[in-house]
Order: sequence, then structure tokens, then C-alpha cells
Amino acid sequence: MVRILFSAPPGLWAEYRAPLTRALDEAGIKAEIVTGTGDPAAIDYVVFAPGGGLSDFTPFTGAKAVLSLWAGVETVVGNPTLTQPLCRMVDAGLEEGMVEWVTGHVLRHHLGFDRDICATEPHWDQRVPPLARDRTVAVLGLGALGRACAEALAALRFRVLGWSRNPRAVPGIDCHHGAEGLRPVLEQAGIVVLLLPRTPETEGLIDAERLSWLPEGAVLLNPGRGALIDEAAVLAALDAGRLGHATLDVFRTEPLPPDHPFWRHPRVTVTPHVASETRPASAARVIAENVRRAEAGEPLLFRVDRARGY
Ligand SMILES: NC(=O)c1ccc[n+]([C@@H]2O[C@H](COP(=O)([O-])OP(=O)(O)OC[C@H]3O[C@@H](n4cnc5c(N)ncnc54)[C@H](OP(=O)(O)O)[C@@H]3O)[C@@H](O)[C@H]2O)c1
Repeated sequence: MVRILFSAPPGLWAEYRAPLTRALDEAGIKAEIVTGTGDPAAIDYVVFAPGGGLSDFTPFTGAKAVLSLWAGVETVVGNPTLTQPLCRMVDAGLEEGMVEWVTGHVLRHHLGFDRDICATEPHWDQRVPPLARDRTVAVLGLGALGRACAEALAALRFRVLGWSRNPRAVPGIDCHHGAEGLRPVLEQAGIVVLLLPRTPETEGLIDAERLSWLPEGAVLLNPGRGALIDEAAVLAALDAGRLGHATLDVFRTEPLPPDHPFWRHPRVTVTPHVASETRPASAARVIAENVRRAEAGEPLLFRVDRARGY
């Protein structure tokens, strides 16, 4: 019998209780899941999301892994009390949702939907949008989410450039990597999608200099993390016309404060951190599989590299 602590914001347990119990059962794991620590030394696994009140992992002396419910682990990866292996969430449901959000927002800008939808006066503007093959989309981050989005965009026939830390080869995607690989990617990008994790290296990546590398009027989509962009530089680039539009799902402060200039900027679209989310049914199977692996002495899936920060 393994003992699992479910530590997450109130309300999530109701969503996860049935799928997690079922997934563990299907994986052949006899488990007791608790939502209060009781005897922390007796806990074998911690299923974790920030906001559940757990910040000190020291008492979990017997825990074999901390299994994050979220894909982004920036708020926990640097926690000095966390010495147990940390795994992030790679979930098929999360990926599907992100592909839909990214392709939807890319198509909005590619097809110029705003021109027709926002028109308040009769207009007969017969500008036909270019084909996707004539539009270049850059996806920064080619991990679980970035790669899936890049592939979906390529399937729609966009010309897709990708950027990652290490060299990656993704069929149909023009892949670049490392600091020197960023400029050629941005210089060609009509639409840029940020799907990078927040780390010390990516913090403020999209600053005034990087924005100046973009073609005039490029569109920025940020469903990654708010800290990836320098907000003041993005606003300045919008006002200067360097950026044609910014569609932002994530922010340095969430909820985005009511007086933040992003809310009222005519060329900014704010979505309230809803690009995608971990889906309990599929995520429960990922957690159960990692518990099964650990119990069988097999390597954990999606283990976070603490030094890298993701
Ligand atoms: N808005 C939302 O609703 C939502 C939902 C879920 C996740 N997210 C965000 O999406 C992010 C990405 O998720 P994921 O599952 O795709 O992450 P992932 O699988 O860890 O992939 C991260 C990608 O970013 C690249 N990268 C990291 N640091 C870099 C650097 N310094 N320079 C260049 N590339 C770098 C990695 O390069 P390598 O391939 O070389 O390692 C990898 O390709 C999460 O961290 C989270 O912040 C947002």
C-alpha cells in the first residue's frame, strides 16, 4: 500500500479524486490518498500544485517523488527544502488544449479576423489573406507543448521555425537553437509564439532588443509565462508599430491588475491564463504511471532537471 498526499488548491481534490483513484487502480497500485499531511514521514508520493499550503518538503523523509500537476514548475523547482525527485506534468489533454488555443489565435491574426469582426461601419474590404504557406510562424520552445503546436501549424501549412536550448530535429519544422539561433528566427517571424518555461535564462527574453529583430507589424502570442516578456518593451513596440498585436495569456502578476495598460491597449488581447490546463482524466494516468514506475524501480517520466530549472 502506497500513501499519496494530494496537496493542491482547494477544489482540485473534487476533480481529481475519482480519476486518480481509477488510474492508480488500473495501474495495479494499491494506494491510500490523503489530503492532509498527518504523518509526513509516512508519505510515499506527493501530488503537488502550488496553493495547497505546502512549501516545506523537509518532513517528507520517505517520499520517493513529488509529482507536479502543472507543466510549469518555476515556483517549486528552486525550493531548497525539496530534495526529492520532482516530475512535471506532460499531459495529452493539456497539449490538445494548447494546440487549439495557439492555432486559433494564429489563424485569427493570419486571416485578419479582427478587420471584419471589429468593423462597426459597413465596409467591403476585399483584401484576401495570404496562404498559410506564405506566413512564417516562430515557436520559441520545442518541448511537449511547443512541438505539438509547431507540428499543428505545419500541418496547416504555415512555414514554421522552432527554437530550443539544445539542437532539436522536428520533421517539417526549421529548427534553431541556442543564443545565436534566436535572431534568425525572430527576423523571419510574422507571428511569434512563446512556449518556453520561466527560468533565469528565459526571464525577460523578449526585451526591446529582441523585439527590434522582428519584422515590422509582427504579432506576439504568449501562452508561456508572463516573465518571458519585458512588459514595458512590448508596450513600446506596440506603440511604435514594431508589434502589430500582442495576445497575452500569462502575466507577471495574475490576475492582471485592473489598471494594467494591457487591458485597454487597442492592440493587446488579454486572455486570463486559460490557454490550456492539466486535464484530470489524462493527468491522473500520468501520475499513476510514475508511481508504478517508481514502485517497479523504473526511471520516472518527465523528471525536472534542477540545474536547468525545467
Ligand atoms: N498558459 C497556459 O495555460 C499554460 C499551460 C501549461 C504550460 N504553460 C507554459 O508552457 C511552458 C512550456 O511547457 P512544455 O511542457 O512544452 O515544457 P518543456 O517540455 O519543458 O519544453 C520547454 C522548451 O523550452 C526550451 N527552452 C528552455 N529554456 C530555454 C532557453 N534558455 N533557450 C531556448 N529554449 C529553451 C526547451 O529547450 P530544449 O528542448 O532544448 O530542452 C524546450 O524545448 C511551461 O513551462 C509553462 O510555463 C502555460
